[in-house]
Amino acid sequence: MMCGASRARRYPTSRRVVTKTDYRLPCTWGQDTGWKGAMKPVLGIETSCDETAAAVVDGEGRILAEAVLSQLAEHAPFGGVVPEIAARTHLRYLSDQVRQTMTKAGVTFQDLGGVAATSGPGLIGGLIVGCQFGKGVAIANNLPFVAVNHLEAHALTARLPGLTPGGAPFPYLLFLLSGGHSQCIAVTGVGKHERLGGTVDDAAGEAFDKVAKLLALDWPGGPALEKLAKEGDPSRHPFPRPMLRRPGCDLSFSGLKTAVAQTVLRIGPELTREQRADIAASFQRAVVEVLADRAAHAMDMMRDRFPEANLLVVAGGVASNASVRAGLTAAAESRGFRMVAPPVRLCSDNAVMVAWAGVERLRRGWNDSLDTGARPRWPLEALDALPE
Ligand code: KG4
Ligand code: ZN
Repeated sequence: MMCGASRARRYPTSRRVVTKTDYRLPCTWGQDTGWKGAMKPVLGIETSCDETAAAVVDGEGRILAEAVLSQLAEHAPFGGVVPEIAARTHLRYLSDQVRQTMTKAGVTFQDLGGVAATSGPGLIGGLIVGCQFGKGVAIANNLPFVAVNHLEAHALTARLPGLTPGGAPFPYLLFLLSGGHSQCIAVTGVGKHERLGGTVDDAAGEAFDKVAKLLALDWPGGPALEKLAKEGDPSRHPFPRPMLRRPGCDLSFSGLKTAVAQTVLRIGPELTREQRADIAASFQRAVVEVLADRAAHAMDMMRDRFPEANLLVVAGGVASNASVRAGLTAAAESRGFRMVAPPVRLCSDNAVMVAWAGVERLRRGWNDSLDTGARPRWPLEALDALPE
């Protein structure tokens, strides 16, 4: 008792000074105004969902090597991603994936300028594997580490100089359409985002996946549904267009999904291939019309805030859908914008975008402490506070 009391007097809680150790490794690249020193390549690691990916990208955005190992076979029997299986598969293949990518790039760890790993948002097990692996490489080679936000990595892909001459300039409107997110965002700088709107229920990719399941298509549903839709009549079913012409640029897909479910029920359990194709085509047309309308509204909102803006960047897995790309290109033209979408292989999850996000941050002199943890939830807006 006495002993505890005297300790309490000697170390009053209110006056205890806690010094947080900064486990940040040295970053020799530039501060906000530009970069110093040679632009060395960055190793990127992506393990937030079911792709085990590694890439090496140099300071000018040249892709020296990239590899994506899809875990399709592991998850397909379950009709979706099983988080535990995903984490174990990343653990099993990541080190080989990194080693082979480095060899293909023709660089050693000592040649790198930093290591960037997706640290969120995503499935926690996979994030821990990739993030810890990246930190391990950084520690072993005295390299700066960048904890990359997966959504920002999608957002910055359009700035790869090889995709848009000189890289997409800020500000631009990002229409992020992935399996877990559907958002319209004004991207005004690295780490600077303003959310203009987004889905109030399902993400666009989620809607594709759920409707594909109703049509008994193989997982992952989006690409399978797009393929089947090519055989169908898109005007066969007048599915609802949720949110069409509503003010703002919010999206909703649950009503459309329910309408498809009711149609499937009505036709009966034994759908012919032709009937399934008509449903797929009609659903896809409804989605494209809604996305084009929402993008047009978002471009108007963008112009109100940033009169100089003229670029619509589309990213995320759904951006690989040819009808979606065509619909959004037309919407952009109607508003005097230019639509930029990464090539299909860079729309879905990959490590090139992670390495490039690392380059963008490192060349501003921003890197992260090695005690930065994986974050299953990590909204883009949380990045607005710039690193110390
Ligand atoms: O960006 P992404 O690869 O992973 C996430 O971060 O979510 O997006 C995956 C989503 C899945 O829902 C998948 O079905 C959808 O994108 N997707 C497509 C197509 N390719 C992928 N949806 C429609 N058409 C496609 N061709
Ligand atoms: Zn993604």
